[in-house]
Order: sequence, then C-alpha cells, then structure tokens
Amino acid sequence: MIAGVILAGGKGVRMNSSFPKLFHNLLGKPIIKYVLDNILRLNLDKNILVIPPQEEGRFKEIGKDNFVYVFQEDPLGTGDALRRAMPELDGFDTVLVVNGDAPLITDKIFKGLLDSFKNGISGVVLSTILEDPMHYGRIVKDKEENVIKIVEAKDATPEEKLIKEVNTGAYCFSIEDLKLAIDKLDNNNAQREYYVTQLVEILNSMGKRVISYQTDLGSFALGINSRLDLALATKRLLEEKMEELMDEGVTIVSPENTYIEPDVKIGRDTVIEPFSVLKGNTVIGERCTIGPSTYLSNTSIGDDCEIFYSVIKNSKIDSNVRVGPFAHIRDEAHIKSYSAIGDFVEVKKSTIGSYTKALHLSYLGDAEIGERVNIGAGTITCNYDGKTKHKTIVEDEAFIGSHTCLRAPIRVGKGAITGAGAVVLKDVAPGTTVVGVPAHPIERKPKEEGGKGE
Ligand code: UD1
Ligand code: CA
Repeated sequence: MIAGVILAGGKGVRMNSSFPKLFHNLLGKPIIKYVLDNILRLNLDKNILVIPPQEEGRFKEIGKDNFVYVFQEDPLGTGDALRRAMPELDGFDTVLVVNGDAPLITDKIFKGLLDSFKNGISGVVLSTILEDPMHYGRIVKDKEENVIKIVEAKDATPEEKLIKEVNTGAYCFSIEDLKLAIDKLDNNNAQREYYVTQLVEILNSMGKRVISYQTDLGSFALGINSRLDLALATKRLLEEKMEELMDEGVTIVSPENTYIEPDVKIGRDTVIEPFSVLKGNTVIGERCTIGPSTYLSNTSIGDDCEIFYSVIKNSKIDSNVRVGPFAHIRDEAHIKSYSAIGDFVEVKKSTIGSYTKALHLSYLGDAEIGERVNIGAGTITCNYDGKTKHKTIVEDEAFIGSHTCLRAPIRVGKGAITGAGAVVLKDVAPGTTVVGVPAHPIERKPKEEGGKGE
C-alpha cells in the first residue's frame, strides 16, 4: 500500500508576497494545482496534504475530497511537515513525499521514482544534475553510490557545495523505517528548521540504505521559491506546450511571442500568429488562423475561422467565421457559421446567425440576430434602461441601416429594413421599412426589396 504526502505548509518568504506562495498563478492555475494533479494521476492508495491551518479553505477548494488534510500550525521545516502526516501512514508500506512547490516534476517522473524503490532499501531521493547547483540540497554519496546524506546549501562545506547532483524535493521511504527515524530529527542547522533531508543521514546511522534516482530535469526551477523561479517555470511549461502543439500539426509562427495555457486544444493546420494569448479551456478547430495579437479565453472556435487582432472570452464561434480586426466578443456569445464580426464591434451575450455580418462599430448586447442579417455600421442595441437589461431580436434577412439604435426590448421582423440613423422604439413588422427619430414605417420602394450590403 502506497501513500503520497505533499508538503504544502511553510511561509514562502522568498516570494515577497502577501499572498500564499503555492497559490501564485502559473499559466492560469495555482502552482499547487499542478502538483496535486500529478499526484492524483498516480492513483495511490491515499493522498495526504500538509497545509497551514489558515489556508484550509483555499486548499480544499482545489484539492476537494481527494486528499486527507493535515495541519502544520507553525512552519518548522519540511521534516516537521512530514512528521505531522505520520499518524495517517499507519497500515501503509511505502510513502512518496513531494514538495508542494515543484509543479514541473511530472507524474511520469514520480512513477519512475516509485518503480526504483526496491526491497532492502529504506529510501530513494529523486535527484538531478545541475551545472549550477544553486541553493539546492547537495546529494552526498559513498563509493557504492549510496546516498549518505543530503546537505542544504546553507550548511554545506566548500567541497560539498561543488557537488552537482541535487535534491529535487521528492522522496520515497519505507514507512516502517521512517517511523523509527522521524523522531530523531533535530533543528541544529543554519536555518533552525527540521529538515526532511536529515532523514537520509539518520537512516544511514541506523544501518539502512538510501539511494538516488536520477532524472534529467534540465536547468529549470525545481522548486518555485521566488518570482524569478515562477517566470522560469512559466517559460519551461510554455515551451513544452508549444512543442506538443507543433508535434500535433499546429503552426506557431513565433513561439517565444505566444502564450498558450496547458489545457488549450488546437486542431491540425491551424496557424497561431505572434502575440496571441490563448487561455483556459479554449478549443480551436482545424485550419484556422488566430492572430496576430488575439486574446482567447475559455472560448471554442470551429474549423476554418480567421480571428484577427481581437478579444474573445467565454464564447462559442462556429466554423468559417471571420472576426476582427479589433472585435470584442464576450459572455457566452455564439457566432454561427459563415458570419463576420468586424472592427470595433462588441458582441455580448448574443447569438449571431449564419451568414450575418456586423462589420463596423457596433454594440450588440443581449441580442438574438437571425441569419443573413446585415448590421449596418454604428448599430447599437440599447439593452439597458438604467435598471435592467432587455433583449433585442432581429429576424432573418433584416437590413439594419447605419447608425440605427434599437431600444430593447424590441423585435425587428423578417426582412424588415431600418433607415440610416433610425431610433427604433417599437417592434418592426416583417417586411416593413422604418425611418427617422423615432422610427416610423414608410412605404417601401420596389428597388429597396431585399436590400443587402456590407
Ligand atoms: C527543499 C530541500 C532541498 C531541495 C529543495 C528542492 C529541505 C530542508 N530542503 O529546500 O534539499 O533541494 O527543496 O526544491 O527540505 N514546507 C512545509 N512546511 C515547512 C516548510 C516547508 O510544508 O515548515 C513545504 C513548502 O510549502 C514547500 C516544500 O515544503 O512546498 C519545500 O519547502 P522549501 O522551504 O521551499 O524548501 P527548500 O528550501 O526549497
Ligand atoms: Ca522550495
């Protein structure tokens, strides 16, 4: 039986923030969320999360009931944090211990660490080689390659400081041996903390064997302690995401000038132009061109769309739609296929039917616009009366003249026409034409029939 313990107590002073370190945003998610997800993917028999009691609410919001929560009242060190979890380990054989600030160590790597844990061994330390071992704990080995201790940079001798194999902050222990060792931890070190790393030395003194499992993690931040580490981790995760997308057949014209969060999905032969920001659960179909300079958040886009210098949030765009430049689409708007939303058009909480065009300088809010409608330049839905929002309905094939104001609630019937500058206060019957301020019906001249334009 294997249990996992995530160490998420502590203060995170090096972040220089009034906000808890593990909840800083890393590509749209809190740092700790990555670690929790990676651990959950291992399907261990029990998952334990050691947290500061004052952050209980925050942790439970993202960890839900997937974890047993254990409190560490005072941040006395990583060893003390693990000690808090001990009562929860009764009846288990092996424990995987992981620092909560290590979002870049994947479930695959943890799996490798677990697999390297063999009979006759009391502990395994996940290590990596760093050309510049910086502030990380150094792995001290004997001639047989056993780990005899881990020495923190602040406690290391000049010779120990030269060691390039460092502790990544993930370990496997035999719980039987851990129970004997954990009470022997002390805080006689430079930081006056109980170090989880001291367990290695204690186990050795008990005649037990500890080894390291070396992975190639490269020279990026193993643990996020500072804003610089956060930026380095962001860079690394972005690189990984871009590489994955390119492998899947997406063209990213300038990866170093593009921001794509980990959960974004993009179809084959779509091109992402520079300075685009794709966030949250955004899903993009095949053969689209996105950008330059486009911001998409929690938005789904069909196939063969062209979205250009625009902002779209929490909305749905069907296939073959053209958006931009400089459009703003938001709040569950739905733009149906073959339609076009042009420059300086804002669409909020509205449905735009197929083959409909709103190409210039409009506000369409709380509206239901049918198919093959032309929304003239400067059309405004006056959806707000100062107290509540009201709906505008424009039926299929209507022609809304330039600079029309549609005072909601209102309905413009099928094939109806509004003249340029009309202020429409009353419903317009299908097939009729209204003009003026306030708009009134006029007789439609034959040549106006079915008028459509750009
Ligand atoms: C730790 C290791 C170091 C290793 C590095 C890898 C120790 C003593 N040192 O150093 O060898 O190279 O990680 O990144 O463990 N925490 C608690 N309670 C506490 C203190 C910390 O739960 O009282 C948690 C923190 O939330 C954090 C993790 O433990 O997620 C690691 O603590 P941190 O202080 O960042 O350790 P490092 O100094 O980075
Ligand atoms: Ca750390």
